[in-house]
Amino acid sequence: MLKLIFTALILNLFLSVSAQEVFYTKPYLQVGYNAAPDALTLVWHTTDFNANWTVEYSNNKVDWKKSNDIQSNTVSIVGTTSHKVIKATMEGLTQGGIFTYRVLKNNSIVFTASGNAPKSSTQPYQFVVFGDIGAETKDQKQLALRAYLEKPDFIVVPGDIVYESGTIAEYRKKFWPVYNADTANENGAPIMRSVPFLAAVGNHDADSRDLDKTPDALAYYMYWAQPLNGPMGAEGGAIVPILKGNETNKNAFTNAAGKAYPRMTNFSYNYGNAHWTFLDADTYVDWTNKELTDWVSNDLASSKDAIWHFVVFHHPGFNSSVEHFEQQQMRLLAPVFEKGKVDVVFNGHVHNYQRSFPMTFAPVKQGVLLMGGKDGKTIRGRVVPGKWTLDKKFDGKTITKPNGVIYIVTGAGGQELYNPEQEKDTDSWQKFTNKFISTVHSLTTAKVSGNKLVIQQKSQDGKIVDALTITK
Ligand SMILES: [Fe+2]
Repeated sequence: MLKLIFTALILNLFLSVSAQEVFYTKPYLQVGYNAAPDALTLVWHTTDFNANWTVEYSNNKVDWKKSNDIQSNTVSIVGTTSHKVIKATMEGLTQGGIFTYRVLKNNSIVFTASGNAPKSSTQPYQFVVFGDIGAETKDQKQLALRAYLEKPDFIVVPGDIVYESGTIAEYRKKFWPVYNADTANENGAPIMRSVPFLAAVGNHDADSRDLDKTPDALAYYMYWAQPLNGPMGAEGGAIVPILKGNETNKNAFTNAAGKAYPRMTNFSYNYGNAHWTFLDADTYVDWTNKELTDWVSNDLASSKDAIWHFVVFHHPGFNSSVEHFEQQQMRLLAPVFEKGKVDVVFNGHVHNYQRSFPMTFAPVKQGVLLMGGKDGKTIRGRVVPGKWTLDKKFDGKTITKPNGVIYIVTGAGGQELYNPEQEKDTDSWQKFTNKFISTVHSLTTAKVSGNKLVIQQKSQDGKIVDALTITK
């Protein structure tokens, strides 16, 4: 009997060790650098530099296709375990279907899962939005489970993906185990292997650019595969700060990031009947730069066929919280969004939920730049005064055609909540704010069906704390 138990223990140990050895991070879906409407990219990490990998996928579990586009980057950064990030494109997915995929290592199947192929422009779909997530809190993990239970087709993160500095080590601890867990429970859920996440960068993802201080920072560029169709930018220009560090650390980072750096922080993506624009709102970006605002204008103008236009970035221009109130730099883009017929802007950064009235905003000049940091030389934000016009007739129930853009702050995705005292103190809200919920963590769910969009804000237990319908 003892011998049997001992053998079982050894076998168990062997199995768990070999399972760990196959992947450093298990496979997860991304929309990919090219983001074709019938394609997704499968990404995984491995410490085995010699293995031969194959990805097979099927729309019907009968006919299997093989990915013929598998690329990898080597992450070899001081203080971290060297690994490869492998990206396999799966093309020819039946839109709106569920496909099955399997990963083969040296010709043996080592991972199988199913995924949601992107929807076509005529199919209904649903998505979840939550920001400020990877804080390793109970609330983050419970909201991951809530997101999984909502059965979204994809998930959008308006920045602050992983705290404190967006490092490799932090992703390993606070991100993959929660959103790419093997089972669904109070600690996380197997979401990312079946539906892609899309993310804008927040300050905690992209502000650490001194690689001598934090060599494994900027992991966003290594681990995400999102469209590379935004403005290119150059270090020291309007979009990209100077990368600091010795040559070894800088080379290690650029090798690990590959072609994602520095372009991947601004991009657009078409899904179903919607056009999505993801922007970098971090304070190092100069949003008074005309080339940059022209790119957003042109991007929106070139997507006129889309029924819905959504914009995602981290720092909200319209925020009633005392916290981060002065960081209003993205207000400068309000006229561009209005001209581009943007329906909803999703933000994070402020750790609560806020919804504006449908509104337009005319900035007075470019606002006043605020400096901060220890030496007073870091840009803290920009105060942008101006005139807003609010549509108070829209109620999202009986009157559902808004006149203007609706701005939603959905930054209650896991990190400690901001300003709970303001929830009932309506006098402390700015005039553009219609809803302000800061005493519960929550996520945004959205269901799109043709010309109708139903948004619900839900807490961990699924309780609806805000709801609105928008129609065209
Ligand atoms: Fe933030």
